[in-house]
Amino acid sequence: MKRIKLPVHIAFIMDGNGRWAKRRFRPRAFGHRAGVQNMTKICSHAFRLGVRIVTVYALSTENLSRPKEELDELFDLFRSYFSKKKERFLDMDVKINVIGDITVLPEDIQEDIIDVMERTSVNTDGLMNICINYGARQEIVRAVNEAVAFGRFVDEASFHNLLSTKGIPDPDLIIRTGGELRLSNFLLYQAAYSELYFSDKMWPEFSRRDLEKAIENYSARDRRFGNVRGN
Ligand code: IPE
Ligand code: IPE
Ligand code: MG
Repeated sequence: MKRIKLPVHIAFIMDGNGRWAKRRFRPRAFGHRAGVQNMTKICSHAFRLGVRIVTVYALSTENLSRPKEELDELFDLFRSYFSKKKERFLDMDVKINVIGDITVLPEDIQEDIIDVMERTSVNTDGLMNICINYGARQEIVRAVNEAVAFGRFVDEASFHNLLSTKGIPDPDLIIRTGGELRLSNFLLYQAAYSELYFSDKMWPEFSRRDLEKAIENYSARDRRFGNVRGN
């Protein structure tokens, strides 16, 4: 890759697993399985390139309205992903942080997730946030209710501390695969000044080179943050 300005934090909307499988005349679950494999590959590559924080959208709050059969398959994938046997998640020692309301998951998976978060909490190679049953509107409403319950007004900094991304810098770059041009309830507050990048590739086929191209594209952009001069 050429000399470039790296994003500190990249967030991925990993969309297109179902269509990728359909094109191969395979069930949607086949696409989700390939999607998890690609998540490991792409996130590892991002960290290897020097990105410090990676956030992935694995399941939205609205995805819970999908057929039970598909949800069961997704939960099985989460189960094997977070299984106790797994010592390392990527080929680096990254901290794993799950964001979203995981109480909808079977209890054994919830326990494994908590275990993984505890075990990886000392890791310093990077931070990987995995959003499961996450919705930005729900997150914002919950934060507002917390502020009300504490009986206090908030400013931007204190409001940020009530969000599930507390202490985490906002994503510099949000990459959505699958060809749709929308955020689908992902990080609506945090994305205020994120650079957006859309790829027509389906998530399982989004390659390391595609990631590098997205970063090169980001690097050439002028982030003005409302001001008149770029950096
Ligand atoms: C994204 O792929 C993964 C999840 C939402 C769990 P989809 O399952 O939305 O795939 P498409 O968009 O139907 O192809
Ligand atoms: C967004 O994809 C959610 C995830 C990738 C987890 P969706 O497939 O749910 O988005 P819509 O329904 O096309 O907006
Ligand atoms: Mg989709």
